[in-house]
Amino acid sequence: MNIIVTGGAGFIGSNFVFHMLKAHPDYRIICLDKLTYAGNLSTLEPVMDNPNFRFVKADICDKEAVDKLFEEEKPDIVVNFAAESHVDRSIENPQIFLETNIIGTSVLMDACRKYGIKRYHQVSTDEVYGDLPLDRPDLFFTEETPIHTSSPYSSSKAGADLLVLAYHRTYGLPVSLSRCSNNYGPYHFPEKLIPLMIIRALHDESLPVYGDGMNVRDWLYVEDHCKAIDLIIHEGKVGEVYNVGGHNEMANIDIVRLILKELNKPESLITYVTDRKGHDRRYAIDPTKIHNDLGWLPETKFADGIVKTIKWYLDNEAWWQPIISGEYQNYYEKMYGDK
Ligand code: NAD
Ligand code: DAU
Repeated sequence: MNIIVTGGAGFIGSNFVFHMLKAHPDYRIICLDKLTYAGNLSTLEPVMDNPNFRFVKADICDKEAVDKLFEEEKPDIVVNFAAESHVDRSIENPQIFLETNIIGTSVLMDACRKYGIKRYHQVSTDEVYGDLPLDRPDLFFTEETPIHTSSPYSSSKAGADLLVLAYHRTYGLPVSLSRCSNNYGPYHFPEKLIPLMIIRALHDESLPVYGDGMNVRDWLYVEDHCKAIDLIIHEGKVGEVYNVGGHNEMANIDIVRLILKELNKPESLITYVTDRKGHDRRYAIDPTKIHNDLGWLPETKFADGIVKTIKWYLDNEAWWQPIISGEYQNYYEKMYGDK
């Protein structure tokens, strides 16, 4: 089986590459990644010499490069993680989100139509459902919840989802989609809440909590998300959407306090700052469908996963320090510039 994984140098994509090479030692995994600011090739260093792995630096919007790769590799499956993924950046500059998240998805799917494919899987997000009120803990996102987005990021992801479903209906492309809640774990880029707070706390810097800190996210350990996608591409039904989440809702302020406690740092580091524009109040996934249909259940409890994650950041300063200094962006040139 040949699988193209786009965005495999990012947070979830790299964890997925590691998972697939381990879980399916007979598969060939080809990672296509543009190496934007969020892509870090050093993350993939441990698998660079694996004969079942290939890295290709390319943009999913570049039709010529994508077609060339499909011609060379004749993939059976494409899993699309490549995206601009940070809500705050989308509020500053929506354009690149539309290009990568929507146009890039169409370029990939056009290549799938041209060269034939067993499965195109779109890695989507629970943010396409908008948000839920804090005072209705009985409400959850199901696959039937209407799309109702808040940010340019979530709108671009929703646009892509609609396009994926349209390619299925119009051209019969064998697609599937997963909409997962917030992930956490190793290799999470330190602009996102959990790694940002860990690293700033380690430096005794202020921890910027947006608004009142009461916004709720539904956290899932990244490995559980990777296992869910592995299951969907093998056993999930074509044309279907699967919500992925572990019923683990936490207010932001409680996460920040927990990180401070684990690191033995004072709560005086917490600083309430201006709220994010259009800030979604609460996300909460109903994962009944993936559980009933595919038998998926999360394996890592938040209490264990967050301790594991904090320890990972403590043990892997060599991974995040070059990100903080910006040095990681020279890594590709240094290692592979002449190859
Ligand atoms: P990330 O920002 O860490 O990684 C994105 C990767 O995509 C990077 O390696 C980047 O270089 C690459 N990329 C960006 N633009 C590209 C382009 N035009 N061509 C090729 N590669 C490109 O993101 P992440 O947090 O790992 O998220 C991965 C996917 O999962 C995204 O589609 C995101 O919407 C979705 N998702 C994320 C979460 C989460 O909590 N992080 C939850 C649900 C869904
Ligand atoms: O729900 C899935 C989504 O989760 C993914 O689709 C996105 O790609 C991913 O980035 C994530 O989006 P969020 O906006 O929920 O994640 P972020 O880490 O940016 O913020 C989490 C919460 O913490 C949110 O309520 C905003 C808040 N926050 C964030 C930052 C960076 C702060 O209070 N302070 C901060 O400095």
